[in-house]
Amino acid sequence: MSDTKILLSEKDMPRQWYNIMADMPNLPKPPLHPGTRQPAGPDDLKAIFPMALIEQEMSTQRWIDIPQEVLDIYSLWRPSPLYRAKRLEAALKTPARIYYKYEGVSPAGSHKPNTSIAQAYYNKQAGIKRIATETGAGQWGIAMSLAGRMFGLEVVVYMVKVSFNQKPYRKIAMETWGATVHASPSNVTNSGRKILESDPDNKGSLGIAISEAVEDAATRSDTNYALGSVLNHVMLHQTVIGLEAKKQMELAGDYPDIVIACSGGGSNLAGLSFPFIQDKINGKNLRAIAVEPSSCPSLTKGEFRYDYGDTAGLTPFLMMYTLGHDFMPPGIHAGGLRYHGESPLVSQLYHDGLIEARAYGQTSVFEAAMTFANAEAIIPAPESSHAIKAAIDEALLCREEGKEKCILFNLSGHGYLDLASYADFMAGKLEDYEYPAKLIEESLKKLPVI
Ligand SMILES: Cc1ncc(COP(=O)(O)O)c(C=O)c1O
Repeated sequence: MSDTKILLSEKDMPRQWYNIMADMPNLPKPPLHPGTRQPAGPDDLKAIFPMALIEQEMSTQRWIDIPQEVLDIYSLWRPSPLYRAKRLEAALKTPARIYYKYEGVSPAGSHKPNTSIAQAYYNKQAGIKRIATETGAGQWGIAMSLAGRMFGLEVVVYMVKVSFNQKPYRKIAMETWGATVHASPSNVTNSGRKILESDPDNKGSLGIAISEAVEDAATRSDTNYALGSVLNHVMLHQTVIGLEAKKQMELAGDYPDIVIACSGGGSNLAGLSFPFIQDKINGKNLRAIAVEPSSCPSLTKGEFRYDYGDTAGLTPFLMMYTLGHDFMPPGIHAGGLRYHGESPLVSQLYHDGLIEARAYGQTSVFEAAMTFANAEAIIPAPESSHAIKAAIDEALLCREEGKEKCILFNLSGHGYLDLASYADFMAGKLEDYEYPAKLIEESLKKLPVI
């Protein structure tokens, strides 16, 4: 009988991050300065990012060393376990072999510290004292607060209001690690005040929270901005997930036919899949699937074009699949997936057919989460449960077709601070939102033609 947990020792931790820009068939188009509409250079970004991260953002070098200080903190929870989901396989009566990489073992409960620790390190090196950031469901806010504490940086978090109200424990965790948390839109920034004036009940979105954090960072010299997803350097830092998973699959004597992850801004998907997509580019037969909520379907229903990364239009234009920067997604329970855009790297790979995408409504996602929790014992984060739903669907298809495929998915976080969402699901209170075609159409119409 094979092992349930496939573990690596600390000495097997990757020492370098993998940069897919060295291998992808088409590089993403560069970010554009919102004023000049010319490619944004390092000088345009240095008001809010340290130079080391700007260099990583633009680098095409295949392997980038992980600093020892970052590895030391990673070792608190890395390497993370790879599980063979034997009980889930039995519950589904599938001939498929299902594996999941479990990132919920981090102190923050998700994959997010893989990049928050690295970002805090480079900011500290650059002499920065304070970090402003946004958070959706609170997972990124927790991760950045933890990283700030580890490197002695002050952290201020703009937390999307719907999650601030749905998930009070996340806020308490951030405060435990010394961060200041504002419900976004807030009265603290011009962007927040402007939105509240016209819409006092605004529930917030990641786009709005990003505007507030960028404004905060751009208006203070001691402060930089940190983003939990979307940007190239974030995707880079997350590749420790896939690099470990590759070694673990090798130990298990297996290799995935299908790699699956949920996708908000794309970072846990990139983290798990990019090292495998390198193999695909080199000829391996492999499918990578991004899973998003049908209420915020940027890859499956968005357009591939330049758009702002935030709602107020403070960031550079990014070439990405987008629903329009002022598209306001419904207040679904997977708060971390409520983002109008998508990582430019994931967008380009999707555009080039190296990644597939699909979308699900939240009730079917919570049904999958319940099946998983009752078989495998871990209560998954609502975001990660999108990946579980796709993995279950693929495993059931294997049962129907009598095929023995190998499925690997990313369990990007646990759901122990999302139990109110589970309570709503069990009480039959979760709503599925129709794909908001009209709202998206209106929002896309307002995009500048570049
Ligand atoms: C557990 C979890 N998974 C996934 C995501 C989505 O982000 P990304 O697409 O960058 O992985 C989030 C975002 O908050 C999250 O908390």
